[in-house]
Amino acid sequence: MIKVAASILNCNFLRLGDEIKKVQKANVDLLHLDVMDGHFVPNLSFGIPILKAIRPIVSVPIFSHLMVIKPETIIDQFIPDSDGVIFHIEATDNPRLCLKLIKKAKKFSGIALNPDTALKTIEQYLDDVYEILIMSVYPGFGGQKFIRATINKVKQAKAIIGDRDIRIAVDGGVNPRNAQMLINAGADILVAGTAIFKSDNYAQTIKMLKYGYSK
Ligand code: DX5
Ligand code: ZN
Repeated sequence: MIKVAASILNCNFLRLGDEIKKVQKANVDLLHLDVMDGHFVPNLSFGIPILKAIRPIVSVPIFSHLMVIKPETIIDQFIPDSDGVIFHIEATDNPRLCLKLIKKAKKFSGIALNPDTALKTIEQYLDDVYEILIMSVYPGFGGQKFIRATINKVKQAKAIIGDRDIRIAVDGGVNPRNAQMLINAGADILVAGTAIFKSDNYAQTIKMLKYGYSK
């Protein structure tokens, strides 16, 4: 079953709580929190205080997507209030430590890859990850154009995973027009921000992401 994760990066922050309640009512499966440090990516977003503030009203699993340098130095602060933590392979010299800290807390772990990063960089960690997050835009901003080469990368990831129990998530520029191609290629989780929060009907958009336009 395909899951949709809502990235709140482009929601209406003036009404953050209402936006989260609305997207949950629209049957979203997961909440995706884009944490940016202004170094790993050329932008700042939000961090632990926002995670802690929203936690009480979130009824779906929260995945924190850490776009920060040296995630191992801060990951401990995100783990308690997150259900899953995703870090970038390009951002750390110590992926094993990140995975260990997440595992120790019995949370879901994810490794993210930038568009130019080869899948072979994470092959040695595959026995310890819950999900691979394939970036379909250069991280840093919501609302960017989907990079089509991602579709092939998803297929390659599927092949590399083999029979391991690992989910493939795709993040960036995902919308109802490219969702089915990603699902056909092997994606299990679609992360969408703009497509959901800039739409008039969140529930309909989430349905279209999962099942296509016709249903
Ligand atoms: C990009 C973020 C994504 C992105 C999703 O740096 O990791 O989660 O904002 O938003 P859209 O769907 O607008 O590309
Ligand atoms: Zn993200």
